[in-house]
Amino acid sequence: MCGIVGYIGESQAAPILLDGLAKLEYRGYDSAGIAVYDGEDIRVQKAGGRLKVLSELTHDGATMPGQSGIGHTRWATHGAPSDTNAHPHFNAAGTIAVVHNGIIENYLKLRNYLKGKGYAFVSETDTEVVAHLLDYYDKGDPIEAITKVMHRVEGSYALGILFKEHPGEIYAVRKDSPLIVGHGKDGSLIASDVPAVLRYTRNVYFIQNEEIAVLTKGEIAFYNVYGEPVEKEPTAIDWDINAAEKGGYEHFMLKEMYEQPKTVRDTLSPRVKDGGIVIEELGMTDEEIRAIRKIHIVACGSAYHVGVTGKYVFEGMARIPVEVDLASEFRYRDPILEQDELVVVISQSGETADSLAALREAKKRGVRTLGIVNVVGSSIAREADQVMYTWAGPEIAVATTKAYSAQLIAEYLLSIKFAQARGTVTEKEVAAYLKDLKRLPEQIEMLLGNKERIQHFANRYIAAKDVFFVGRGVDYAISMEGSLKLKEISYIHSEAYAAGELKHGTISLIEEGTLVAAVATQEELYKKTISNIVELSSRGAFVLAVTNDGNTEIEKAADYVIYIPQTNRYFTNSLAIIPLQLFSYYVAVGKGCDVDKPRNLAKSVTVE
Ligand code: M6R
Repeated sequence: MCGIVGYIGESQAAPILLDGLAKLEYRGYDSAGIAVYDGEDIRVQKAGGRLKVLSELTHDGATMPGQSGIGHTRWATHGAPSDTNAHPHFNAAGTIAVVHNGIIENYLKLRNYLKGKGYAFVSETDTEVVAHLLDYYDKGDPIEAITKVMHRVEGSYALGILFKEHPGEIYAVRKDSPLIVGHGKDGSLIASDVPAVLRYTRNVYFIQNEEIAVLTKGEIAFYNVYGEPVEKEPTAIDWDINAAEKGGYEHFMLKEMYEQPKTVRDTLSPRVKDGGIVIEELGMTDEEIRAIRKIHIVACGSAYHVGVTGKYVFEGMARIPVEVDLASEFRYRDPILEQDELVVVISQSGETADSLAALREAKKRGVRTLGIVNVVGSSIAREADQVMYTWAGPEIAVATTKAYSAQLIAEYLLSIKFAQARGTVTEKEVAAYLKDLKRLPEQIEMLLGNKERIQHFANRYIAAKDVFFVGRGVDYAISMEGSLKLKEISYIHSEAYAAGELKHGTISLIEEGTLVAAVATQEELYKKTISNIVELSSRGAFVLAVTNDGNTEIEKAADYVIYIPQTNRYFTNSLAIIPLQLFSYYVAVGKGCDVDKPRNLAKSVTVE
């Protein structure tokens, strides 16, 4: 996720901007840049890679004199990481500089509109349209230009803006992307997160959606989207620097779990247009989709579990055969791949060695490939024929949560797209799917709000030796992910089984008090899973059931029940995984484990 800073005051701006950006490094980035007004012009310096490179280029800011400026660390979304795509972006005259965090969803439409008006673009970013649109509307009153731009752009944005013609001011604007402002002892500051300003002030103003802040060295004024003044009270921040980086959360994993509603929304909303699904990046016509005879989903770890869910969803919805493979197996098993098949490689990092090798193997055989990837410009994103990005932002905790949730959404969207093209769903069903998908973010929020109850339950199991997760159909896929989450961060041995498999061996492991998490979200399979729960309980297991609201029947068999809100049977993974993530997290915290950096694990597994 990008980082924004801005400063106007008595001191030199550049060193303050670099210091603020350094405090935002934890957010992840691939390039950085600053723009400073030197009394005559706005000067800019950008650099790909680490912030250190920018600091060296500017001699820690000394080569960029001036008392007002904006800065940015970019985590690539639109356009690969490069100096050209790095922020700030400018209008053609270089008199308006913009830094941006978020996604301008209608940027292509705006870009074409502006090109028609004679504007030329130098980068591939969505941000550059904002700089040109500001130029287009700028008639001497920045607030007027900004509000006009706010009415034209769709999506999410936090913006820091510098106008050469208004050197005594810097501007901050936001919608659905965080931005704060504060007033230090010798100037005013903008930042996308608290750590960047803590050294200068502990009193900050949280800019609300569709509000504008105008900062001068002595004061900060606020306006709404109609340009009317707004009154605001500052909030006192008492976090220490370490806590501040995690937004006040104890761990990145917890923070990232709480980012899931946003992640789901960000992955979903750009692809749902006019009541239908538009996946431009798929690069396939309906006819080409119909010509696909089989899908192979290939991935590792949690991304593989997304693939297992995908098998049930694609096959159920679109009636197309799906094979799911662990990338490390696929690459060496000489897979049978035909020309009319599609290989989908799922990867958060886009750099997992086995997944990349599997992709190359598929390409070597001339099969069409699609990457579902989070990191823009990563190897899998570059090498796959088509790439569908998940908009989860950087994930810092080794245990994936928000990227996993975003991958699920991408897969649901693809399944619906395939089902529509293949004529296996009616328009009415598609409308119902979309309605349920749009409700997921608030339902996830609701489940996260239940964390105390799960924490309380988890505390009883910090000494557990073995935990089992069982389910049928999609619930089996959820169980696999629940089990991986628990073992990777708490070091408790756990396994996931298809509930119907228990009797074929695993049930012999059940002892008095063994915890079994039974996932039962598939209505047509309730009775079967309840029978398995009874078999487990009668052998001494303590059964935690995760099921849909209203399935109270399960209380007769299970010892403890967590309910999830109603959604379509294909989408239950997105909800049922939340209590399982929270459970694993609190068991690990209770055991004193290093939750964000579990032993022996790496975030990106670039060796086989
Ligand atoms: O970056 P990728 O999605 O390709 O990573 C795949 C796995 O290494 C990853 O999902 C891993 O299993 C996570 N630590 C699970 O939380």
